[in-house]
Amino acid sequence: MSEDWDTQEEVSNGGFGASRFGGQSNGTTSGLSGGSSIGGGRGRGRGRGLGAFGSKLAGVGGSNSTGDSGGFGRNRPSRNETNSGGDGWGDNNNSGGGFGSNRSKGFGSGGGGGFDSNRSGGFGSYRRGGGGGGSGECFKCHEMGHFARECPNAERVDAENGDDRPAAADYVPPEPSQDEEVIFSTIQKGINFDKYDDIPVEVSGNDPCRCINSFGEADLYDSIAENVRRAKYDKPTPVQKYGIPIVSAGRDLMACAQTGSGKTAAFLLPILSGLLRDGLQSSALSGQQCPQCIVVSPTRELAIQIFDEARKFSYKTMIKCVVIYGGTKVQHQTSMVDRGCNVLVATPGRLLHFINSGMISVEKVKYLVLDEADRMLDMGFGPDMEKLVNNPEMPKKGERRTLMFSATFPNEVQERAAEYLDNYLFLTVGRVGGANSDVRQVVVEVPQAAKKDKLIEILQSQPENDRTLVFTETKRGADFLASYLSQSGFPTTSIHGDREQREREEALNDFKRNRASVLVATSVASRGLDIPAVKHVVNFDLPSEIDDYVHRIGRTGRCGNTGLSTSFYNPEKDAAISRALIKILADAHQDVPEFLENVADSAIGTYHGNTGGGFGGRDTRSGPRRGGGGGGNRGNRDWNSGGGGGGQESWNSGGGGGGGGGGGGAAEDEEAWD
Ligand SMILES: Nc1ncnc2c1ncn2[C@@H]1O[C@H](COP(=O)(O)OP(=O)(O)OP(=O)(O)O)[C@@H](O)[C@H]1O
Ligand SMILES: [Mg+2]
Repeated sequence: MSEDWDTQEEVSNGGFGASRFGGQSNGTTSGLSGGSSIGGGRGRGRGRGLGAFGSKLAGVGGSNSTGDSGGFGRNRPSRNETNSGGDGWGDNNNSGGGFGSNRSKGFGSGGGGGFDSNRSGGFGSYRRGGGGGGSGECFKCHEMGHFARECPNAERVDAENGDDRPAAADYVPPEPSQDEEVIFSTIQKGINFDKYDDIPVEVSGNDPCRCINSFGEADLYDSIAENVRRAKYDKPTPVQKYGIPIVSAGRDLMACAQTGSGKTAAFLLPILSGLLRDGLQSSALSGQQCPQCIVVSPTRELAIQIFDEARKFSYKTMIKCVVIYGGTKVQHQTSMVDRGCNVLVATPGRLLHFINSGMISVEKVKYLVLDEADRMLDMGFGPDMEKLVNNPEMPKKGERRTLMFSATFPNEVQERAAEYLDNYLFLTVGRVGGANSDVRQVVVEVPQAAKKDKLIEILQSQPENDRTLVFTETKRGADFLASYLSQSGFPTTSIHGDREQREREEALNDFKRNRASVLVATSVASRGLDIPAVKHVVNFDLPSEIDDYVHRIGRTGRCGNTGLSTSFYNPEKDAAISRALIKILADAHQDVPEFLENVADSAIGTYHGNTGGGFGGRDTRSGPRRGGGGGGNRGNRDWNSGGGGGGQESWNSGGGGGGGGGGGGAAEDEEAWD
């Protein structure tokens, strides 16, 4: 799972709590803590990270990869009045300790954890912890003196194991099924499918395209239209009605629509049609392959799913679809690529490896798709995406089509995304970042110690085979809970970044086939996965970011089906997300429990996070919203303001800056996406 090593994700607030003080890198405790917000994280980083001081007043970073001392990541003070004190300072591009004002925290930073103040003004999530000081070994090529994210070299996938490095993957995934019935099996539409038509849609940008009302109007290439019929799609969803003509017209697109509403087909159908219409580039039988479409995804399982969808819609055509992702044997995927590759679905680490080693050339790319685009552009994957689009062979924006899809689009990510897009249209179906309206959301107050019993009570009270997806914040927590549930008589499996890829895929398949009716997962399973008949999503631990909550609960209630989510609110830990959670609940017309309102009223330093109060609820090109918000013109609808004071400038929607970064690499129990 080589990619896992330099793509760390999501802090494990839950499991670590106060023990996450100070940095520790490669077993060498070197982090210091100070003040009321403490940076650091026990990490597997190899570099010797210097310690970090995380004071509530300013984050002070450790040394960075280039040897500069971290200094203060100082940029704009947060102007969000409701953030955690407003006393953090963010600097998106600070190469020091990894400070950040929000998601872009420590973007491109070298050393340190890249903390922000998501929670309690200092404990924060970070993505991609750096490796500490500048003297460590690069995770990617294993040379000394630089970090993986700055690594100019190809990844040494088969490198000798380091002391704590997992073995090079030898997993060969099973061949995808050729059975037509399997290829076209899909989630049945639910009773609310037609209600999608009532969701307000907005398109902003120059020369918007007309929408279609049926697949017949989509002017799809015959064989693709035939596959749409085989898939039993009789009517497009809103994101398809608007998205398909936009892609077919050759426009760049940033599209935001609720979870489970058909974004995948919205990009695949016009792309596959376009490839056939324009003539497929013949792929050499061996040697370098030049895909005309590249779809990137933040997780391996999502990449597999998108690949399956691409195979489905390109069934009985000449289009060759391939998927490459981490945790699998490179030689095997090389042989898959060698058979020809028009559409390549990939996770970023593996994709860059194939590009760097010359197996894939991006020179013929006509369509570049970022699924879960906000995730792909945040600091976890942002540097990889930058490498991808800045590859000298990659057609420049305007020469390629760039398409971005997600259910959430924080403003600051939109702004970054815009750099990759050319004269794009911004499509919103419903509220950007809003929860799926088909999911009933329940939030119950459960102290940490009572969570297990509460979960058992829930599982006992529902039909035995109801598929339930349980999210924990940490990998260890997932393992622990999965064994506990199994021992308690519930067929349970688990998926998280510490499991072998083979185990991850088996777990997902067992869950899909109901061999296990409970799947305990970390956030690695929160985005995009389309698992049939998930009846219930339980947030055993609430996530630290509200967008993650939206994606997690979106694993149920898909394609017009109804679903249920239950979130355990731990009063000792979750105050920081309370306001953002209330907003999500209220916007989706869900009951807001009284205890939550009380907490939110008194919550000091409440995290509004990357989306707090903002939710990226509009096309950021329409300019910053300032206090007053509300109303707004077309394309500038302010879903969040609730009248005065709601507006805020997009660059500072995060909480106050974090405690110091520095210290070790990624926290030990953090989730790795790919
Ligand atoms: N027009 C349609 N008719 C019937 N089913 C559809 C249609 N469009 C999509 N679906 C089905 O709806 C389900 C959800 O689609 P998809 O995974 O593309 O959603 P999404 O918007 O990408 O969700 P997420 O935000 O979670 O990634 C899939 O099972 C897909 O086959
Ligand atoms: Mg999707």
